[in-house]
Amino acid sequence: MERILVLLVFVVTVTAFRPNPRFPKEETEQNQIKKVSCGAHEDRRNEILSKSKCGEPKDVFVELKPQSSYMQVVPSAVWVKRCVGLCDHGPEGSRCVGTNKTIEHIPVRISNLKTLKETCATYPVEVHHSCGCGCAVPTRECSSPRVFNPRKCNCQCPNMKERRSCLKQRNPAMRWNPSKCVCERRRR
Ligand SMILES: *[C@@H]1O[C@H](CO)[C@@H](O)[C@H](O)[C@H]1NC(C)=O
Repeated sequence: MERILVLLVFVVTVTAFRPNPRFPKEETEQNQIKKVSCGAHEDRRNEILSKSKCGEPKDVFVELKPQSSYMQVVPSAVWVKRCVGLCDHGPEGSRCVGTNKTIEHIPVRISNLKTLKETCATYPVEVHHSCGCGCAVPTRECSSPRVFNPRKCNCQCPNMKERRSCLKQRNPAMRWNPSKCVCERRRR
């Protein structure tokens, strides 16, 4: 009986690890980028593009990090709605962020791998209800004299008028220094 069992395990193992003929190792043809005419696949391309944009919150797999290395959270990851997507037309540096967010408390089991004790807890997880293209960080440290512009989501000179008049001069000897925010003589 035992021998038959060993043989059975052997056969199952060998079968499982035999290369599957339906998934050949060398997929030369399948792994290549293929040029196609832009007239083809128009609808499908537009559909893919619109799905890639920052829009409705999408299901994202979020890890529930244990508080220490010998703790195990079960489940260790959950599906939650989050804002993800492209913000091509938003200000530079903008990202797809949650414009309405709440915290959901997800019930989990926590195993202590040292003491083998199991406890239960709830994990706070951020859930997004609506999305928009905006600053991931509402304020950021900017090196003086530059200041943070939340609308543009970047650091910029506070004296934009001066910058404009500096560039308007079209004086090849002068240039705008964006880190010092001054119109300065161009060094040779
Ligand atoms: C945010 O989303 C929640 C859940 O959908 C909703 O109940 C709440 O009214 C929303 N808040 C705002 C300010 O829109």
